[in-house]
Amino acid sequence: MDPQQTPRIDNYPSAPYQYFPATDLKQDLAAHSDEQLKLFLESWENLPVDAYMKDGADYRRRRYGSFHFSDGELVADPPGAFHQTEQINSLHGGIDRHFPPLTESTLEAGVLQSLIRFFMKRLPGEFDPTTSGVGVHQIRITATRDAKGLPAPEGVHEDGHHYVAQVLMRRTDVDGGESQLFDRDHQPLYRTTLLDEFEAVVIDDRRVFHGVSAIRPAAGVRQGVRDMLLIDYFPLQGRDAGA
Ligand SMILES: [Fe+2]
Repeated sequence: MDPQQTPRIDNYPSAPYQYFPATDLKQDLAAHSDEQLKLFLESWENLPVDAYMKDGADYRRRRYGSFHFSDGELVADPPGAFHQTEQINSLHGGIDRHFPPLTESTLEAGVLQSLIRFFMKRLPGEFDPTTSGVGVHQIRITATRDAKGLPAPEGVHEDGHHYVAQVLMRRTDVDGGESQLFDRDHQPLYRTTLLDEFEAVVIDDRRVFHGVSAIRPAAGVRQGVRDMLLIDYFPLQGRDAGA
């Protein structure tokens, strides 16, 4: 890299993000049956519309749940309000949002827990599970001929966590949806378009901003779908979280 262009993030001991090809996750999930993986992927078919969209749009569906660690075990928290400050999310922050919880079948299958642990061991920086929580968002964005889908309607932003894993779960009949990372000076740092299920990028949310370009239906079809799993890793104390 040209030293003239070296961003200040290079002062840190590691890159502020990590890309994972789908094969990495699929290998790690090999202990799970094909049926378990199929059911996990199909759980995105059962996401209620996000009722908190400011513009009343219905192209985003989602569920949310959180976990904490107890003696090394992942423990699901009871369903609760999800809050972002307006500073973190100027579009949808400032209120408690009660998203529909993860389903019992999703929690019991264990695939989600495997994914949480996979990334926990590979975060681009230090992580202490004894003082941290984990948030999980299942999100579907649908684009139609009449209305494009915005995976990040707030534009380039941060989530307010320490780390966020962005995992593609399905991409069908979609154009666009480029994942974009920027340094803290808002200079472009990395971009990729996730294409395969279980392909992922993990970011250090304190060191980068991120955004995702709009999605549109592919040529010749009326509707396209992009499913994502977002896993947030955050400190339990002084939390100021978003997604
Ligand atoms: Fe985000």
